[in-house]
Amino acid sequence: MKILVTGSNGLLGQYLVRDLALAGHIVVATGRGTCRLQIGELPGALYSEADITDEQAVWQLVSGAAPDVIVHAAAMAQPDACELDKEACYKTNVEATRYFCKAASALGAKMVYISTDFIFSGDNGPYKEDDITGPVNYYGQSKLEAEETVKNMLKDWAIVRTVLVYGNILAGTRSNMVTWVKENLEKGNSIKVVNDQIRTPTYIEDLSEGIKRIIEKNESGIYHISGKEVFTPYEMALQVADYFHLNKNLMEKVDASVFTQPAKRPLKTGFIIEKAEAVLGYSPVSFKEGMKRMFEGKP
Ligand SMILES: NC(=O)c1ccc[n+]([C@@H]2O[C@H](COP(=O)([O-])OP(=O)(O)OC[C@H]3O[C@@H](n4cnc5c(N)ncnc54)[C@H](OP(=O)(O)O)[C@@H]3O)[C@@H](O)[C@H]2O)c1
Repeated sequence: MKILVTGSNGLLGQYLVRDLALAGHIVVATGRGTCRLQIGELPGALYSEADITDEQAVWQLVSGAAPDVIVHAAAMAQPDACELDKEACYKTNVEATRYFCKAASALGAKMVYISTDFIFSGDNGPYKEDDITGPVNYYGQSKLEAEETVKNMLKDWAIVRTVLVYGNILAGTRSNMVTWVKENLEKGNSIKVVNDQIRTPTYIEDLSEGIKRIIEKNESGIYHISGKEVFTPYEMALQVADYFHLNKNLMEKVDASVFTQPAKRPLKTGFIIEKAEAVLGYSPVSFKEGMKRMFEGKP
């Protein structure tokens, strides 16, 4: 299959491009600015630069690539940045999704849209695919509006929602919960970690595999793809400290209310993944196994 992956310089995009190319698909990776992937090492993959907020650029990209499937992973994905610059967030998360839907519709491509647990209120997670949505911040609102855009504009679509993704940082990608805790404790820095939120953290390679299965099995509809274990961020941090024999006394257990972040966070999210298990045969690793895979063979 020919697959266009947006956000390919980002955490998920880099793994997806690698995994889809290694599975034998032709992959057109697209991102902002220069390519941060080792694209030359991936047979059947090429990089095409595009700013997804430019409608004309999106049309040229999609019509030039003529993909069977578009995996739309690019986003303004940091809730605080979205809260502080709602206009940029709307352009990136909602309007750009509309441009990709328009092109997908014109060219008959399937769309796999990557979404988030932040479309839920966090009042009563973990959530199933058909639970009622209710975002508590602008990032969540924008991702929910993009989901609606996909559903309304396209016949052939899948939406993959995921939660608190962790994994090795490839070139130029942001830190995540595991790398943040490990790096700080290794440096002897004290950290405050929230203990009144719950999540089902997702190992990046599981997420990439789940998306690949949706594409290869030609599935559609909404899928919750995350880990299976429910943790508070503090519980995750404890596991990281235990795994790497780091000093737990540097960690302070706090409530989310002590942070004065611009964007409110949903308290209890996380996913019930029974649909993905039944339909896709999706089987995520434990958090401990995810850490093992991240650092296997690494000092
Ligand atoms: N990471 C998580 O825990 C998590 C949880 C739930 C859902 N998600 C969703 O998963 C998807 C992938 O997230 P991620 O963690 O891989 O995020 P990421 O590392 O921030 O990747 C997003 C990518 O989108 C690109 N992008 C942003 N604006 C763009 C523009 N105007 N034109 C072209 N590219 C643009 C960014 O480019 P630059 O690199 O140049 O900034 C970045 O490479 C997102 O849709 C996110 O909402 C992530």
